[in-house]
Amino acid sequence: MTQRWNPDTYSEHARFVSDLGAPVVDLLDPQPGERVLDLGCGDGALTERLQKAGCDVVAIDSSPEQVWAALQRRLDARVINAVELPFDAEFDAVFSNAALHWIRDADRLLRGVWTALKPGGRFVAELGGAGCVASIREAFTTALGKRNIDSGTVDPWYFPTAEQYQARLEACGFSVDSIQQFPRPTPLAGDVIHWLEVFAQSFLNAVPASDRTPLLQEVRVQLKPRLCNADGVWVIDYVRLRFAARRQAAIRDC
Ligand code: BEZ
Repeated sequence: MTQRWNPDTYSEHARFVSDLGAPVVDLLDPQPGERVLDLGCGDGALTERLQKAGCDVVAIDSSPEQVWAALQRRLDARVINAVELPFDAEFDAVFSNAALHWIRDADRLLRGVWTALKPGGRFVAELGGAGCVASIREAFTTALGKRNIDSGTVDPWYFPTAEQYQARLEACGFSVDSIQQFPRPTPLAGDVIHWLEVFAQSFLNAVPASDRTPLLQEVRVQLKPRLCNADGVWVIDYVRLRFAARRQAAIRDC
């Protein structure tokens, strides 16, 4: 297990993830009575918005801790791995915010989403796009390289271009209504160390526990000139990929 989610830490240092998810909810345009799957629901903050819009929502996440937090909001939340979806043609829409870049086997995920949707059902999502957190990846490549560790072997993220993801969607039986890739520099309320502790565990766990604080400090020093502005605010180099697609007649080539 290389990535664990602690709902309290997540709420304190990563609340911006769901706060910035409003545009993807708008793109979904949830309608009362629709049955929606929220894939990678985290602590359920956006699931709650879909439920308030009148949808009948099933929320899934692979983290038992996050699902527990979502259950506290009285949501139908279940611990399910996104590449093992057990649903068959039952959803009007599948929604996902800031989860798909954690899933390296995108074709397997897309086959499961296709199968979970009713024919013509919508798949609306946002994930990290090509170049997302490039400075953080580079800093870990350098710092782990000094320790003879190839950061590529522990990098948990998949950040495709719009062209790459559109091709995958189409090969897996979706038509794409819209897809956009855009930078979204994201200011943090606190120090980058907290961001690294929440999101970059896979890199940190590549070294012995005794070396984690030195590794964190080394990465922070590398990142400071690129990500910390003159006011002392850390601004993460996020890139987003946002799309709306629909299930078409048959899975083709994935
Ligand atoms: C995100 O939640 O959007 C995210 C997490 C880790 C790296 C990049 C993006």
